[in-house]
Amino acid sequence: MPAFWFLLAAFLLRRFFGMSDYPKIAQLKTVAAFRARLAELGLELPVDERVLSADQGSPLAAPIQIGPLQVGNRWCIQPMEGWDANRDGSPSELTLRRWRHFGKSGAKLIWGGEAAAVQPDGRANPNQTLATASNKAGLAALLNECLVAHRAAFDNADDFVVGLQLTHSGRFCRPNTKDLEPRIAYHHPLLDEKFGIRPDDDSVVWTDDDLERLIDRYIAAAGIARDVGFQFVDVKCCHGYLLHEFLSARTRPGRFGGDFDGRTRLLFTIIRRIRETYADLHVFVRLSIFDTLPYKTSRDVGQPMDYEHLLPYRLGFGASEANPLEYDLAEGFELLRRLKRAGVLAVNISCGSPYYNPHVQRPAIFPPSDGYLPPEDPLVGVVRQIQAARACKAAVPDLPMVGTGYSYLQEYLPHVAQAVVRDGWTDIVGLGRMVLAYPELPADTLAGKAMERKKICRTFSDCTTAPRNSLPSGCYPLDAHYKQLPQAEELKKVKQEIKG
Ligand SMILES: Cc1cc2nc3c(=O)[nH]c(=O)nc-3n(C[C@H](O)[C@H](O)[C@H](O)COP(=O)(O)O)c2cc1C
Ligand code: SF4
Repeated sequence: MPAFWFLLAAFLLRRFFGMSDYPKIAQLKTVAAFRARLAELGLELPVDERVLSADQGSPLAAPIQIGPLQVGNRWCIQPMEGWDANRDGSPSELTLRRWRHFGKSGAKLIWGGEAAAVQPDGRANPNQTLATASNKAGLAALLNECLVAHRAAFDNADDFVVGLQLTHSGRFCRPNTKDLEPRIAYHHPLLDEKFGIRPDDDSVVWTDDDLERLIDRYIAAAGIARDVGFQFVDVKCCHGYLLHEFLSARTRPGRFGGDFDGRTRLLFTIIRRIRETYADLHVFVRLSIFDTLPYKTSRDVGQPMDYEHLLPYRLGFGASEANPLEYDLAEGFELLRRLKRAGVLAVNISCGSPYYNPHVQRPAIFPPSDGYLPPEDPLVGVVRQIQAARACKAAVPDLPMVGTGYSYLQEYLPHVAQAVVRDGWTDIVGLGRMVLAYPELPADTLAGKAMERKKICRTFSDCTTAPRNSLPSGCYPLDAHYKQLPQAEELKKVKQEIKG
């Protein structure tokens, strides 16, 4: 009988709340219980018993030198766009507010702020920020908002480093409406099928000549970022967007595809040209170091799209050819070495794509509306990312690195962050969703304050579901400002419709 009730409860949770039945982190009441869960899953992850403040010598409070840049501590804010810029790419009040929150977070590295498109038709949504001359004042306003907030909270910004992330959305361009207007590196049988691209439609494939013009757009965007006062640009190469897609363009003929040199040529040409043109602007790169298969969109437990007919799988960067459900970091290590040689000062290690394997890219217990129920305990996804970053750090120790994917750790995030930095698994810990819900987490941790439980991101995925349905992103469940927006009601309706 108890088994019956358990199964019924699991069914109801799945059916009505889109929730999986893995134990939730909030149920693991002590560090010991959390460690026991990791052990049960066979996961290796250091977890400190006690979180230290800066005064008590927290490893997270130690400064780090990135080339000539002094970064005041080991917390970083990951880039997060909000689908909330004005249609001309300039910031709205919501965009400014997010950068203000980044500034007052206490993190000393703001990795790119958010993806800013180098040309209007390269936007991932009609409300993406633009890194074009027309939005120079808007970019200046974002940087200023962040710096002013930081100075107000921490007196000075001498060891505070802020960059701008530059992007072209490639296969995931939606510059005008919520309909895709893709510009792809090559035809990928599974991604073409999932996102409705005809395999014989070559009008969506970049020509080499088009790419030469695109490179010029990146250089222009970098110049604008530099003039505005950003200390670095992040040449975004992750999450299925254009530069990341090129890394797996083995079937693409010509200079920008084929072998490793060809597939990485676009990225390296942009980096080289930026460095040649602006000697005083630093270049960082955010990288999806591994990928896995695209997953089917469904309301059930996630399953990869059928791929057996494509083995050996040569359609992913950092995915094992023999078993693409596993990663293979060999090419990633080589890429990191070459990035270092090309003068890139730091790399942010991410993975996968939020569009086709979200459980890998941003582990969550509640799926976004275009996702599926988690096919694994989200802790597995967190540790996969942390271990991959650890392997990268071991392979290229003199390249400063930021780790990603920590938000699902929830109350144990500071315990793990402190341990991995102390043990040298990563140099810096990046915060994504957690900081949308709880902007002051780094400052609170360094001040020795206990985490505020009501602010902890529980990975409800509303910040992804909202933009998937043409609403601005934000933490609707926990951030009072979003709770009272009219869009919160709209989001509720969308979620109800999805549940049916
Ligand atoms: C609302 C939202 C917007 C995001 N926007 C960007 C972006 O503009 N650029 C980027 O590189 N990653 C973006 N990401 C990915 C995050 O930077 C991060 O990699 C991801 O959320 C996983 O980290 P977390 O577990 O700390 O959330 C976004 C994530 C979210 C939730
Ligand atoms: S909506 Fe808020 S709680 Fe949910 S995943 Fe995003 S930041 Fe976390």
